Amino acid sequence: MALEIPNNNIHLWFAFPDAISDETLLLRYQQLLNDEEKKRWQRFHFARHRHHYLVTRALIRSTLSYYIDIDPADWRFSFNPYGKPEIISALADKPIRFNLSHTDGLVMCAIVLENDIGADIENLQKKHATLKIAEHVFSKQEIEALQNMPEHEQAQRFFEYWTLKEAYIKARGMGLSLPLNQFGFILRENQPVEINFDSRMDDNPEHWQFWQLRPAEHHVAAVAIKSTTPIKYQLVINNVVPLQ
Ligand SMILES: CC(C)(COP(=O)(O)OP(=O)(O)OC[C@H]1O[C@@H](n2cnc3c(N)ncnc32)[C@H](O)[C@@H]1OP(=O)(O)O)[C@@H](O)C(=O)NCCC(=O)NCCS
Repeated sequence: MALEIPNNNIHLWFAFPDAISDETLLLRYQQLLNDEEKKRWQRFHFARHRHHYLVTRALIRSTLSYYIDIDPADWRFSFNPYGKPEIISALADKPIRFNLSHTDGLVMCAIVLENDIGADIENLQKKHATLKIAEHVFSKQEIEALQNMPEHEQAQRFFEYWTLKEAYIKARGMGLSLPLNQFGFILRENQPVEINFDSRMDDNPEHWQFWQLRPAEHHVAAVAIKSTTPIKYQLVINNVVPLQ
């Protein structure tokens, strides 16, 4: 029976590639790939990257099939000019939208009805010259907030801003062609995440809801949803092994 998703729900599905090693299961994942995906999968130089790719494809294909009675191998996708994938709608009897994110050790898929959604995860162990990158791409307010933090807290806060910014641009579907310094987040303890737009961005903070998550010890994640109606969204979180 198909899984229902209420209008005000966002379902998040997490898969941990390092926990998936069963050869029979991995063979079933391979059988889900279409020709294009097979080529991409074979092009990865490192086995670890190939494995992550396979788990990502299995996660999105098997997750979509919880909601709509279609075999996981039969999903087809279209892509906007910036590469954002969507279900080819003729396949679906519900207006399911999704967004994927993957980083070392974790794959995430966000599912919602109708509205633009973006998700991003990052591994906190990635070594970055965080403040230097921030100075190039963050808003003035975000850079100041980071500079005013104790140094040992800056790396985590950098990734919190980063995942929120990526979740927003991914919900807009325009990727890094949107200028990251023309919008900024305000993070306050125990308060909802707020966004500010530069006048050049032509967007309205009231149309957006954001969440920050800590799905695993070394990972931070963010979700962004656009809604022009007063729906208050709720997250429902699941950890899965695809097809198991
Ligand atoms: C989309 C983007 C922000 C991804 O960021 P990332 O942190 O490297 O990667 P993530 O793991 O979070 O997300 C990647 C996933 O997002 C999805 N995605 C790809 N492009 C997307 C977009 N424009 N908007 C939203 N989601 C997108 C895909 O599902 C992709 O995974 P997949 O290729 O395995 O299916 C970044 O790659 C980007 O800006 N791309 C756009 C490039 C562009 O503007 N091209 C112009 C072509 S003319």
